[in-house]
Amino acid sequence: MRIERTQWDPAQNALEESLFHTANGYLGVRACPEEGAPAGVPSIRGTYINAFYDVKPIRYGEKLYGFPETQQGIVNLTDVQNLRLFLEDEVYEPLRAGEVLACRRTLDMERGLVTRFIRWRSPKGREVEVTVQRMASLAQRELFIMRYTVKSLNFSSRARLISREEGAVTNFADPNDPRVAGEALQHLRVEEVRPMESGGLIRSRTLASGLELAVAVGYALPAGFALSVEARPAALEARMEGSLEQGQSLTMTKYAVFADSRRHPDPAQAAPVILAQARALPVTHYETRQRELLEAFWLRSRVTVRGDEALQRSLDFSLYSLYCSAGRDAVSSLAAKGLSGEGYEGHYFWDTEIYVFPFFLMTDPALARGLLDYRHTILPAAREHARIMGHDRGALYPWRTIAGSECSGYFPSGSAQYHLSGDIAHAFLQYYYATDDLAYMAERGGEVLVETARLFLDAGHWHEGSFRIGAVTGPDEYSCVVDNNFYTNAGAQETMRGAAMITRRLMEAGLAGRLLAATGVTREELSAFLRAADAMYLPYDETLGIHAQDDGFLKLATLDLSAIPQEKFPLLLHYHPLWLYRHQVCKQADTVLAHFLYEDLADEDTMRRSYDYYERCTTHDSSLSACVFAIMAARLGDMDKAMDYFRRSATLDLDNAHGNTRDGIHTANMGGTWLGLVSGFGGLRVKADGLRLHPRLPGSWDSYSFPLCWRGSRLRVHVTDVGCRVEALGGEALTLRVYGQPVRVAPGQAAEVPLPREE
Ligand code: BGC
Repeated sequence: MRIERTQWDPAQNALEESLFHTANGYLGVRACPEEGAPAGVPSIRGTYINAFYDVKPIRYGEKLYGFPETQQGIVNLTDVQNLRLFLEDEVYEPLRAGEVLACRRTLDMERGLVTRFIRWRSPKGREVEVTVQRMASLAQRELFIMRYTVKSLNFSSRARLISREEGAVTNFADPNDPRVAGEALQHLRVEEVRPMESGGLIRSRTLASGLELAVAVGYALPAGFALSVEARPAALEARMEGSLEQGQSLTMTKYAVFADSRRHPDPAQAAPVILAQARALPVTHYETRQRELLEAFWLRSRVTVRGDEALQRSLDFSLYSLYCSAGRDAVSSLAAKGLSGEGYEGHYFWDTEIYVFPFFLMTDPALARGLLDYRHTILPAAREHARIMGHDRGALYPWRTIAGSECSGYFPSGSAQYHLSGDIAHAFLQYYYATDDLAYMAERGGEVLVETARLFLDAGHWHEGSFRIGAVTGPDEYSCVVDNNFYTNAGAQETMRGAAMITRRLMEAGLAGRLLAATGVTREELSAFLRAADAMYLPYDETLGIHAQDDGFLKLATLDLSAIPQEKFPLLLHYHPLWLYRHQVCKQADTVLAHFLYEDLADEDTMRRSYDYYERCTTHDSSLSACVFAIMAARLGDMDKAMDYFRRSATLDLDNAHGNTRDGIHTANMGGTWLGLVSGFGGLRVKADGLRLHPRLPGSWDSYSFPLCWRGSRLRVHVTDVGCRVEALGGEALTLRVYGQPVRVAPGQAAEVPLPREE
C-alpha cells in the first residue's frame, strides 16, 4: 500500500510536500526538502500542531456590529527539517547542482513512513545515495523521527551533517486567494534556545494567544561521528562530523519532540522527558508500534475494490490521510486540510461532521466520539457567538474556528451558515443511532442538541402557519443570505426533533439530571421544538416538481455553465460575489445533499428531478460537491454517472484536480470518497431504527467490500454482481435491513443476500 513518485519535477514540489506530509492527528510535517528548495522551486515549509493557534486582527474597511475582530490561525512551528550534508568541500544539493541519477519518494501506508531516496552525482563526480525516512509517531504523538542515511558509491571522504532547528518562521500567505491567509506573519517568538546533551531545546510563545511550544531534539550518530550543538539567534545548530568510506552506509537519527501548552501544563519540562523516553528505546520499537497501529486501522477501515488498482490506491490514500489528520483529544478536531498545509488556516468547518465523521463513526466510534467531544468543549463559545448574533438562547457554532470563536471575516458565507449547527446535531444523532450510547447523550450529546435546537427555534419565525428561517446561507456559497434554505430548514427540523427525542429518552431512563442542570430545558420547550419542527417550511416548486434551494433561487437568472471558459473556474476567483448571487449557479451540492441526509423528506421522483435540475447549475467549485453527486446518482440508479463523480472525488488530491493541493489535502472530499463508496454504491444509511444497506456493483468492478462497526458488532460487507454477503466478525448478533429486508447475522456467520430481481 504505497504512493510513489519516481520523477523529480520542480514545479510539483509544493504539491508533493502536501501529499507526502507525515502526520498523526497531533503533529503534521510537510515533506519539504531537508537541504532547502532552490530559488524558483515552489515550497511551503511547514510544521503544525492540531489546534495550536495564534490570533490576529481582522481588518475591515467597514466594520459593522458583531463582526469578529480577531481570527485564530494555525501556526507554522519551529522548523526541524533542515539538514545539510557536506562531503569534503562539496555540499549535497541535488536540486541545485550535480546530477540526480535516480529518485523516489514513497509513502508507505502500512508502515506509516515517508521515504525520500536520491542517487546523486556531485559536480566533482562523487556518487552518493541519500535516503531520508520520516515518521510522525502514532504511538507517541509528540514524536517526529527522521533517519538520514548516506551511502558512498565511489569515494571516501570526511562527511559533515549540519542540522538546524529554525525558530524564526512565518506562516504562508497568498493575498489573491481567499482560501489561504492573505498576509505572511510571524506568530512565534523564541524565548529560549538551550543546547543540551546530544541535542537541545527551543522554547517559543505565540505572540497574541500566548500559547507555549517546546521543541526538544536529540541525535543518534553514526559510529565515529562527533557532535557539537550550539545556540544561534532563534535557532539551534548541531554539527556532526566523521568519515565515510567507499561503499559504506551511515545513518543519523534525529528525534524531535513537540510539546504544546494546550495539552501539556509545562511544555519545556515535558518535551525533554518525552525525548529521553523515546531515545531510551530503539527506533525499531516505534516502527513496530507504527505498523501495529496501522494494521489495526486497516483491519477496521479498509475498503477494497477488485478490478481497479489505481482507484484502490486513491481510496487507501484518502483513508490513511483521514486517520493521520483527525484530532484525538477534546481540544482538536479535523481541519479542512488536516495537518498537511495552511489552506483555510487550520480551521474546522462542517467538513468534519458531514463528510468525515461518518467514516470514523462506522469504523472507529471512539475516535468519532472524540470529534464530538471537541464540539462539546467549544459549546460555551458557541453560546457566546449566538448572543453576538442576536439570539437570547441557544448555541450557534462558528462557521470556521479552532478554539471556538468565529474566524470568518465574511459573514454571508461564514456566520450565516447556520446549517453547521444542524450538521453538528446530525452527527450527535448519528452517533447515538450507531452506538446506542445513551450515557454519552446524558453527559454531552443532549446538551449540544438542546442548545442547537434552541438556536433554530430562536432564529425562525411563524408565518402563515409554518415555521420559517430567514437570512441564512446554505452549503452553496454562491447563494448567500437567503430565506428558507431547504437544507438548513431540514437540518433544523431534525435538530429540534432530535433534541426532544433524546431529552425524553434521558428523562425516561432517569438520566436527565446533568442535561437539566446544564440547560434548564423544560417540557414546554420540548413541545415548542416539536411544534416548530412539524410545521417546518420546506420550499417546494410545484411547476418543476422539485424542492427549491431557497425561496429565491428558482426565480433568479439562469446561467449556461458550458458557455463560461474553463479558465474562469473556480468562479469565486473571477466573479464578484454579488454577480454569482444573482444567478442560479451553485458552488456545491446543497439541495442534493439534503436529499442524501434527509432522504425521508422527498420521494424518489422529486429527488431525481431535483438532481437533474441542480446538476445543471452546479460548478463543483468546492471539493465537497462531486462526492455528494456520486452518492445521489448511485441512489437514483445511474451507476455510470455515480462512477464518474466517484472517480473525480477519489483522485482529487493525487491528481491535484483543483490545482490547490499545495495548500493541503482536501479532507472533506476524502471522507466524501468513503461515503461515495459505502453510502453511494453500498447504500449505507444510519437510521433511528437501525442500519440499512443497499449494495450495488458498478459495472467496471469485479467486487468490492467494506467493514462496518454497529453497536459494538463488527461486520464486513462483500458486494458482487449478484448481491452481497454480510459477515459478522465479532460482537453481538444483530439485525439490519439489506435491500429493504431484515437480515440477521450472528458472530462468525455470514448472510448471503441476493440483489432484488428488479435491479
Ligand atoms: C466550501 C465549504 C467548506 C470549506 C472548507 C469551501 O470552499 O464551500 O463548504 O466548508 O471550503 O473546506
